Amino acid sequence: MREGFLLDPDVAYFNHGGYGACPREVFDEYQRWQRELERQPTELLSRRFGESLHAARAALAAFVGASVDDVVFAPNATSALNAVIRSLRIRPEEEILTTKHEYGAILRTLGFIRANVVLVEPEELIANIGIRTRAVVVSHITSPTALVLPVEDVCAAARRAGVLSIVDGAHVPGHIPLDVEAVGADVYAGNCHKWLSAPKGSGFLWARPEHQDWIEPLVISWGYHEDAGFAERHGWQGTRDPSAYLTVPKAIEVHGTLGLEKAARLADEAERRLSPLGLKPLRGVRAPFMRALVVRRGNALELARRLYDEHRVEVPVFDWEDTTLMRVSIGPYSDEADLERLVDAVRDTLTR
Ligand SMILES: Cc1ncc(COP(=O)(O)O)c(C=O)c1O
Repeated sequence: MREGFLLDPDVAYFNHGGYGACPREVFDEYQRWQRELERQPTELLSRRFGESLHAARAALAAFVGASVDDVVFAPNATSALNAVIRSLRIRPEEEILTTKHEYGAILRTLGFIRANVVLVEPEELIANIGIRTRAVVVSHITSPTALVLPVEDVCAAARRAGVLSIVDGAHVPGHIPLDVEAVGADVYAGNCHKWLSAPKGSGFLWARPEHQDWIEPLVISWGYHEDAGFAERHGWQGTRDPSAYLTVPKAIEVHGTLGLEKAARLADEAERRLSPLGLKPLRGVRAPFMRALVVRRGNALELARRLYDEHRVEVPVFDWEDTTLMRVSIGPYSDEADLERLVDAVRDTLTR
């Protein structure tokens, strides 16, 4: 399986959750689109853009359980959520309710709009929805802690209270089954370049029809006019390379052949093997292919640096709240030998 990817064979790679990794077949398709663009820029960008992008959106929509008109591509989940959060026009008396487990860049975006942000534990979200709550922002799979949150319940509670629900699903497509309409959110953002193994720069924004009008694109361009719908307003954002978006159908097709059940077994095995070294899992519903483990000792940056420099093991280690966490992602290419290297490297780094 490893030969099917372009990753450096010398590195035991445990950061698929960071930036994903493309199977060769998917990367070939990506480059085919790039060559096509270079060979006939006007044909692709002026004449075939709408139709090509629509076909890619239709494949994505079918994969995530959406209607094609409700989903638009974005370069990444950060951009998609920026468009939503920056369109909120929040008032000083309003609050945004969110969790302590959110991705830092999204918390910074909430800071940018000067929102009053209320940070709680995921299980406290519903009880904290109040009269000042304008929106609930919640990850479907959390970034630092790799937990699957019960977003369906949170969205249902928000809806009952008349509060907007915004779900950050950056880690979801290709990781756990996604039926975006069944989640019950008002707005959902995701990435294809993480667990779906699409080229980097392929994210999306989904919004219920009644919320599509107020969400401004980050870049105003030709698609922005009175009669334009959601897809048109967000579709053209100036001249750029759409190849990553156009490759998403291929990524969906290849993803279906990757046999990811074994990745979940290997993730369980990683937890089991790292536990005697003092790395303990967090409580909660753990994501199938990505596990955050509490590291008892050591400076996070130094630990990650030594694992990489001395052992060529790429795994994120970082401080979160008052603990140090190691986030182990199992990719479709990860195998027992990689795991052995991780365990040996952690043992050596923690005991020396
Ligand atoms: C929960 C969550 N949201 C958003 C993002 C941002 O993703 P991107 O950098 O692709 O925009 C990440 C990235 O890891 C994430 O984990």
